[in-house]
Amino acid sequence: MWKQGHGDATAIIWEGNSPDEDKTFTYSELLAQVKRFANVLKAQGIRKGDRVCIYLQMVPELTIAMLACARIGAVHSVVFGAFSADSLRDRINDSECKLLITQDTAFRGDRSGIPMKANGDAAVAKCPSITGVIVVRRTGDSVDFDESRDVWWHEAMATADDECPPEEMDAEDPLFILYTSGSTGQPKGVLHTTGGYLVYTSFTHEIVFDYHEGDVYFCAADIGWITGHSYIVYGPLSNRAITLMFESIPTYPDFGRYWQVIDKHQVNLFYTAPTALRALMKEGNDWVTQHSRSTLRLLGTVGEPIKEPEWLWYYNIVGDGRCPIVDTWWQTETGGILMTPLPGATPLKPGSATLPFFGIEPVILDEEGKEVEGNPARGYLCIKTAWPGVMRTVYGNHERFRETYFDRFPGYYMTGDGTLRDEDGYYWITGRVDDVLNISGHRLGTAEVEGAIGQHETVAEAAVVGYPHEIKGQGIYAYVTLMSGVSPSDDIETGIKGVVRQYIGPHATPDKIQFAPALPQNPLRQNYAAHPSLVDGRK
Ligand code: WT7
Repeated sequence: MWKQGHGDATAIIWEGNSPDEDKTFTYSELLAQVKRFANVLKAQGIRKGDRVCIYLQMVPELTIAMLACARIGAVHSVVFGAFSADSLRDRINDSECKLLITQDTAFRGDRSGIPMKANGDAAVAKCPSITGVIVVRRTGDSVDFDESRDVWWHEAMATADDECPPEEMDAEDPLFILYTSGSTGQPKGVLHTTGGYLVYTSFTHEIVFDYHEGDVYFCAADIGWITGHSYIVYGPLSNRAITLMFESIPTYPDFGRYWQVIDKHQVNLFYTAPTALRALMKEGNDWVTQHSRSTLRLLGTVGEPIKEPEWLWYYNIVGDGRCPIVDTWWQTETGGILMTPLPGATPLKPGSATLPFFGIEPVILDEEGKEVEGNPARGYLCIKTAWPGVMRTVYGNHERFRETYFDRFPGYYMTGDGTLRDEDGYYWITGRVDDVLNISGHRLGTAEVEGAIGQHETVAEAAVVGYPHEIKGQGIYAYVTLMSGVSPSDDIETGIKGVVRQYIGPHATPDKIQFAPALPQNPLRQNYAAHPSLVDGRK
């Protein structure tokens, strides 16, 4: 966080779930809270290198907790607030977190009472490494409270000292772990480090979004994913930017919420995902045009390929034809943006992430791993040389890091995406070439979903694939074979959706379940529903 000489400048604008709830923090105020909370962490016995799990919705305490960890050299592991208790438990155990930070319950759109603390309690019951739980009071709903283990955030902060010198860190010391899904097994703990990650996120944030002092920048992602880590928290705050944190959803209380927030806080730079644009586009232009949006100067998109209709809608309707769009391609693993237009400089083509960022060397490889020269070209998108923000390892499993990203094509980082490079050398990402799904910009492995389906007592086998979905980009299609003697029914279908929600979270719920008497067998691929232990060691 960059405060020196700019303590009175706004750091965070927090827009609550309800349109009449907001709060701002100056850099001085934010720093004071971070120092206090760093002392709370220390009082909990947290030291440099210890892992701290943060399971919060988009409340200001989320950013404060992350920065407090960074200040004392503790490694945070943020778990997206929609993940289930089981997913939370697995993530805590994989990195042996000592502390959990959560909140009583949460609001999200017209939903309230989302049981964050209760999920945390259920998870922690099976997490031997956890020695304490810190609870933010967000809604005031009553929750179970274990006096011997739980501490209220506001009580601990009230008595905490407000001086806390930063821990001295090596550039290669870990900053955080963030779990992401791969094509096999359990999600991987992607580890990012202090020096390179900060250099890369601050530089890309400044250049790609053309950030100038005083600009109000609104990235509508959730901090539970890498977009929020890099482009709500670390990039903007190290650039002394004004960053907006949004607790709600784009459709609450109506379809105009983003544009209302943009007018309310005079937003200049706006960054969102194609799935949100598709959902809003189908509700008609009036929701947009009834708001002025006159402060907007640049629009960004991330998370999945954007198709021409939504790109044109974003450009012509949202941006009134006067704001460049930066279609930014990157991944949890890359730490920051690797491909993007430079606003105002790169001629745009709707649907293309255009050209590599400074220092990035993409190549297209064929099945044999040979570089495909010339244009146009199509194949596996790989990167030839390293960049400062690249992940350093899979937490606790360096071998898996090597196998996943470097074994198939030795000497290259394999992205897992396919791409087309057109006659002008522009890149068009065609999507994942592995068993990774992209559901509304949320990353899930087919193996994880199959493993969760297999937890239902009637299921013998399952095969999950993605299919084109009008709003989500990709939907989840599950083929399920039941145990012999069991007949398909609506109850079983509901039950299967229920176990997936329970084991992963609502965002992983299959859109379609098709019962099949048998599934084609691929001897080279494990059946994760028949053997969920391959995914999570549970059955
Ligand atoms: C996958 C990474 C990076 C932040 C959000 C997602 C897809 C991402 C784009 C884009 C086409 C994109 C890729 C990538 N993706 N951005 N601009 N155009 N596809 O991070 O959860 O790690 O997912 O998202 O398939 O591999 P993630």
